[in-house]
Amino acid sequence: MASYDLVVIGGGPGGYVAAIRAAQLGMSVACVEKRATLGGTCLNVGCIPSKALLDSSELFSVIGHQAAKHGIKVPAPQLDLASMLGRKDKVVKELTSGVAFLLKKNKIDVLHGAGKVSGPGQVAVDLASGGRSNLTCKHILLATGSEPINLPFLPFDGKNIVSSTEALTFDKVPDHLILVGAGYIGLELGSVWKRLGSRVTVVEYLPRILAIADAEMATLLHKSLEKQGMVFQLGTKVTGATPEKNGVTLRCEADGKPVNIKGDKVLVCVGRKAYTQGLGLESVGLVPDSRTGQLAVDANYQTQVAGIYAVGDLIAGPMLAHKAEDEGVAFAERLAGQKTHVDHATIPSVIYTWPELSSVGRHEEELKAAGIAYKTGKYAFKANARAKCMDEEDGLVKILADASTDRVLGVHIFGPRASDLIAEAVTIMEFRGSSEDIIRICHAHPTLSEVTREAAMAVHKRAIHA
Ligand code: FAD
Ligand code: NAI
Repeated sequence: MASYDLVVIGGGPGGYVAAIRAAQLGMSVACVEKRATLGGTCLNVGCIPSKALLDSSELFSVIGHQAAKHGIKVPAPQLDLASMLGRKDKVVKELTSGVAFLLKKNKIDVLHGAGKVSGPGQVAVDLASGGRSNLTCKHILLATGSEPINLPFLPFDGKNIVSSTEALTFDKVPDHLILVGAGYIGLELGSVWKRLGSRVTVVEYLPRILAIADAEMATLLHKSLEKQGMVFQLGTKVTGATPEKNGVTLRCEADGKPVNIKGDKVLVCVGRKAYTQGLGLESVGLVPDSRTGQLAVDANYQTQVAGIYAVGDLIAGPMLAHKAEDEGVAFAERLAGQKTHVDHATIPSVIYTWPELSSVGRHEEELKAAGIAYKTGKYAFKANARAKCMDEEDGLVKILADASTDRVLGVHIFGPRASDLIAEAVTIMEFRGSSEDIIRICHAHPTLSEVTREAAMAVHKRAIHA
């Protein structure tokens, strides 16, 4: 029977990163993954394929709508969807193979198959190649991630009522794509298929999109997506669906009145829940939260059972790949006696629409609810030279700073490359910096980052270019 210091169940960003860090710290490690490839949801059916399609569809849109403005005359672009999907698959393949290479390089044994806890310090793997492998270990890390929430009145059928996984592989552009849920997945995958020619309707239960975001910034994104042609049915409750010959009629209720929406595909994206199916938790008396399916952990990522740990989507906090990775590192380092910790308050989030929306720290509604006095600085991309050169003038940076200490409490960016621009804000917040600190740092000219600096100046009512 093979024996290890650590057996990791789940080869996603939480699991594989923990495995590598533990191996770097001298532990003998095995990683069990039931998919044929490593990288988890993120690399296989999440972050990476969605961003590959977002980038391709953005290029398609830029060539079709913006090239002429830059003085580039090209005939209307034609979509070769099979090639676009093929490129996405190639990106995924290269990155998942890269993870396999890294695990091999770090001398981590990878077992492909479904792993389950069979007792304290014991993991049984039903190997994909057949047979069972029993492992013993000092520590078990559970990193089995999450799965899409399946609404009982709108169950996935894999064909017309689908999850994000199928929406990354449609072999034809849907004529009318209906999205249930105006969150991360709805807005990102809605953008992809809108740019490629679908009519897109987003049905959201709440009266606004992106309940997790700063309301002002969410409104800016909402307006921008409407301008791009997406239709939003907010405050609308889905009650069921009726199959049609070529699609589905979604039955909804708005203001107490029935609303029927006919489309050829319905993408249900109303959140994800932790995945622990078949994990053998009962063998050690571990009980997931009845609502979220998540496991409770302590500061060392240890569950209620000694020697069994959990990270990533399986535990509380934002369900994001970089959060899972950071927890994987912190778990391994704490196991090795270090004091690493992950501050959930400084985990950035990004919605990869165009323009993008990124955020770190608190938003205005949270600060108001907590009774914290704050100052606001805003600066628009339309006043930035680089944004003008790029013809990307839509957007705003908003900085929220403590009214008395000037410490940065939150930064919200809606604009071009907001995903990259947020890194400066995360750094400032990690170092407990102030908006004055951002002002004192030299920012290259002409760059989009100057918008952040001007927003910091605006906190003190001293923006130079306003
Ligand atoms: P996962 O990545 O889900 O990995 C868990 C792994 O465990 C899976 O590979 C699964 O097969 C395996 N597993 C489960 N049970 C067993 C078992 N019993 N035995 C063996 N293996 C098992 N996050 C971002 O930060 N940025 C993004 O842009 C982004 N885009 C996304 C787009 C989409 C469409 C989706 C669905 C998600 C996206 N996410 C994004 C979220 C991100 O994918 C997750 O937060 C992240 O993958 C969580 O990592 P994890 O390691 O906890 O779990
Ligand atoms: P989400 O939590 O982002 O959004 C779900 C939306 O559905 C919410 O607006 C909610 O109010 C709405 N909703 C819930 N029940 C509903 C109902 N019955 N009818 C209509 N609307 C309903 O969930 P989503 O988009 O499924 O994404 C899951 C998770 O995956 C995200 O929370 C995020 O953690 C991760 N993700 C991250 C991405 C990124 O970092 N860019 C991209 C994609 C996913």
